[in-house]
Amino acid sequence: MDIKVFSGKLDTQRVDALFIPVFSEEKKLNEEVSKLDENLDGAISKLKKEQKFKGEVGRTLVVPTFDKLKSKYIVLIGAGSKKKADLDIFRRISATAVKTAKSLKADKILFDIKNVDIRENEEDIAQAVVEGVILGSYTFDKYKSKKDEFKIKNLNIRTNRKNKAKAEKAVEIGKILAESQNFTRDLVNTPPNVINPEKLAEIALELGKEYGLEVKIYDEEECEKMGMGAYLAVAKGSANPPRFIHIIYKGKKPKEKVALVGKGLTFDSGGLNIKPGDYMRWMKSDKSGACAVLGIFKALGQLKPEGIEVHGIIAAAENMPDGKAYRPDDILTAKNGVNIEVGNTDAEGRLTLADALCYASEQNPDLIIDMATLTGACVVALGEYTAGVMGNDQRAINEVLNFSQKTGEWMWQLPFNDMLREHIKAPNADVHNIGKTRYGGAITAGLFLEKFVPEKTPWVHIDIAGPAHTTSGWYYHPKGGTGFPVRTITTLLLNKSSK
Ligand code: BES
Ligand code: MG
Ligand code: ZN
Repeated sequence: MDIKVFSGKLDTQRVDALFIPVFSEEKKLNEEVSKLDENLDGAISKLKKEQKFKGEVGRTLVVPTFDKLKSKYIVLIGAGSKKKADLDIFRRISATAVKTAKSLKADKILFDIKNVDIRENEEDIAQAVVEGVILGSYTFDKYKSKKDEFKIKNLNIRTNRKNKAKAEKAVEIGKILAESQNFTRDLVNTPPNVINPEKLAEIALELGKEYGLEVKIYDEEECEKMGMGAYLAVAKGSANPPRFIHIIYKGKKPKEKVALVGKGLTFDSGGLNIKPGDYMRWMKSDKSGACAVLGIFKALGQLKPEGIEVHGIIAAAENMPDGKAYRPDDILTAKNGVNIEVGNTDAEGRLTLADALCYASEQNPDLIIDMATLTGACVVALGEYTAGVMGNDQRAINEVLNFSQKTGEWMWQLPFNDMLREHIKAPNADVHNIGKTRYGGAITAGLFLEKFVPEKTPWVHIDIAGPAHTTSGWYYHPKGGTGFPVRTITTLLLNKSSK
């Protein structure tokens, strides 16, 4: 897709479709659109009245121009109430624009944001439009013999002239972020017979080669030597051996070091505490945290932010039932010496993360962020669209929550408390991998992870079990992996770099 920022008059370029956002408060066409309307003998205003188009979010009004204008179609696209409009509205409506463009076979489009006057910067709106178009165009058709041929070839975004240079920069960032998110979606959607732990390690190595990043892969024996008893226990039941992945991005003159840890269960059957059939579906997406970490490195490799060093850490495994599998009642020792009693083999993510967090802490980072499809309880608590955020440092938590508001990746903090800390005390060891009851299951999982991060190291845990994939599709997310939270975390890292 070729993306350009443009700041001339409307309808001076030959495009297939010209998209003009309209807020519900705008009763009349603005001056520029009125001129186009005149050239079309009032077709826009007539259709607008006839179809009672009132700028409802995502509604479109398609007006063919029959060669009276340079654009083949003028499309008014509803942006809803101006008071409520934020950046994410622009991601959503630009994804809608892609759908409309597809139905019109319009592969050269112009999206006008010049007359959008909301509380956001114009360059940020331009970036949101690019993100919405790229994310909304995503399809996973690698395994379909008949592929979807339609693609947007040219995307022009019209801004005010004074913002053109800034918008050009923002558009480039938006393109890289959205494409990296699509890369994550591809990985999440790839089936578990194709991506096993070894394959995930290969993908990390390829990424390293492509962008000149250092990648270290540890096999089972090496992990054993490092004392990763919790992680290795989870992997024991699988015929596919585990791989521990460490990928490093070093920007120029690094002042701050961040470690990103991703849960990488290439498939979670539950192990001996096997999941019932319906619950096992989609467990290929139990590697979503790991795939997000790789997507973030794909973005870093291209954006090359200075002043930061980022470590990506993934303890990849497959959780399967077998004669060699770990059992409920097993007691495991993690890398930091903490003894863990297994209450349920389906609470495996926290065991793999335990050793990954120990390893991450040993890199002496200024901040650790882990992302994991950790608990069904988090989905019960917050719904499918919002991630749960926990941690040991309120400032770091606030930072993550702050950026999530900009990116439209919904997150909400869940409270750690001492009562629930009691619930993960084990009968015969230091800590139990399940809570006393189901209640607060997302929090007891977070509290378990806390045992593997030194108090002095700021750490944020993001439970993405809900939003990592969608079975129905929402906004600019088609069915399948969403690529959550690639944009939030990359944006946070970029912001650290400019400071
Ligand atoms: N991978 C699951 C969590 C999950 C559930 C992700 C639904 C996405 C959608 C995790 O390994 C798991 O099985 N957790 C258990 C923990 C329980 C046994 C304490 C759960 O949530 O039921
Ligand atoms: Mg599980
Ligand atoms: Zn799992």
